[in-house]
Amino acid sequence: MYLGRERFTITGIVAREILDCRFNPTIQVDVWVGNEIFGRADVPAGRSRGEKEAWEIRDGDKKVYGGLGVGRAIRNIEDRIAPAIVGMDVRDQRNIDLAMIALDGTPNKQNIGGNAVIGVSMATARAAANACGLPLYRYLNANAHVLPVPLLNYINGGRLTSNDLDFQEICIFPVGAETFRESMIIGWDVYNALRDILSSKYGKLAVNVGDEGGFAPPIVSTKEAMDHLVRAVEVTGHADKVMYGFDCAATHFYDAEKKMYKFEGEYRTRTELLDFYKDLVKTYPIASMEDPFDENDIEGFDMATKELGIQIVGDDFLCTNPKLIRERGARCNALLLKFNQVGTLSETLDAAESSYRHQFGIMVSERSGETEDPILSDVAVGINAGQIKTGATRSERTVKYNRLLEIETELGDAALYAGRLFRNPF
Ligand code: PGA
Ligand code: ZN
Repeated sequence: MYLGRERFTITGIVAREILDCRFNPTIQVDVWVGNEIFGRADVPAGRSRGEKEAWEIRDGDKKVYGGLGVGRAIRNIEDRIAPAIVGMDVRDQRNIDLAMIALDGTPNKQNIGGNAVIGVSMATARAAANACGLPLYRYLNANAHVLPVPLLNYINGGRLTSNDLDFQEICIFPVGAETFRESMIIGWDVYNALRDILSSKYGKLAVNVGDEGGFAPPIVSTKEAMDHLVRAVEVTGHADKVMYGFDCAATHFYDAEKKMYKFEGEYRTRTELLDFYKDLVKTYPIASMEDPFDENDIEGFDMATKELGIQIVGDDFLCTNPKLIRERGARCNALLLKFNQVGTLSETLDAAESSYRHQFGIMVSERSGETEDPILSDVAVGINAGQIKTGATRSERTVKYNRLLEIETELGDAALYAGRLFRNPF
C-alpha cells in the first residue's frame, strides 16, 4: 500500500472508438484519477502479425466498418475491467495488469481482448505519471536518459504496400549521428534524395508511400532497392554516419506446405535464403535484420544469429512475450518490443528486463496501424532501449519523432544518443 493513496485512486475509465492511420476503428482509453487528472492512450493495430500475439477483439459485423468495429472490446472495458480496477491506486501498475490478466483468464487475452487490456494498461501508466506530475519516461525510470537510434523505413514492401518487394522494411539507421536531432536531419536529407532518385528512375508514381510512410516503388529485387538507398545516402554525404537495417518479415513469404521460402520469384530453402543474406551483409553495411526466417523456423534464426554476425531481431518470433524470450532467446540477439503483442505494460517491461539479462538489444516498435499517440517514444526513453522504429513520414510517425525531439531538449545535457552503442548504450 502506498502513502497518500486517496490522491491516486482510479475513479473511472472511459473508452471510445477512434480511427487509426488506415482509417480502421480502434480504441482510445482515458483512465481517471480523482475529478481532474486523467491519462489517455490509443491502441495501435498490426497487419503483419505474429500468430502468438495477444488477441484483438473486433465486432465482426460486416455492415459497420467491414466488421472491424471495437464496440465489444469497449464494452469489456466498461463492464468488466472498470469494476475490477476502479478504486485501485493508479501507481500500482503491476497489480492492475495482474487483475486484468486474471479477469481474462486466457494465455492470449482472447476473452476480454488484448486490444482492450493494453489500452487500459497504457492509459493507467499515463494517468499515474500525470498524477505524479512527471513525464511518462521519468515516471517509468529515474535514470531514463538514452535517446534511441531511429530505424527509418524508407522503402516499404511486403504486406504494407501493393508492390512486389518481399522485404517489408528497408531502412537507414543513422548510428553515426551525435544527437537524435541530427538523426532527423540526416533522415530528411536521405528521404528527399531518395525521392528524386526513385522518381527519375521509375516515374512519379514510384514515390507514393506505403502504410508506414516510406516509398513503395515498383521494385522486386532487394538489392536494386538497396542500391538506390545507398546512392541517396552517398549523394547527401552521410555515408560514414549511416548503416542499414531490414524487417524481412519472412513469415509472410514462407510457404508452410512446401517448407520453402518464396523469395523474389523463386522457391528457396532455408540455407539458400541464408546465403542470400550473407551476400547482402557482405555487400552493404547492415547493422540489423528482423525476422529473417518464418516465426517458427527456430533453426533458421539460430543460423542467422551465428553466421551473419549482425543484430538479429525477433518480432513475430518472440512476440514481446517473456515466455518466448526464455524459450527462444538464445536463437536471436535482439527483441522487437511491441506493447500490444503481449497485452500489458507490465509484461512489456518484463520482456525488456528479460532481454537485458540475455544481453539482448531492444528495439521499441510501432505497429503499421498507428495513431497520434506517441507513447512508444516515452517508453523507449523510459527503458533506455537504444533503438526505435516507427516507419518514416506522416503524422502518426512524426509524432513519435516529435516527442523524442521534445524529450531530448527536456533532458538537456543528460540526454545521450545511443549511436553506435544502440544494442547496449551502457
Ligand atoms: P505490423 O508490422 O505492425 O503490421 O505487425 C510491423 C512489423 O512487422 O514490424
Ligand atoms: Zn516485423
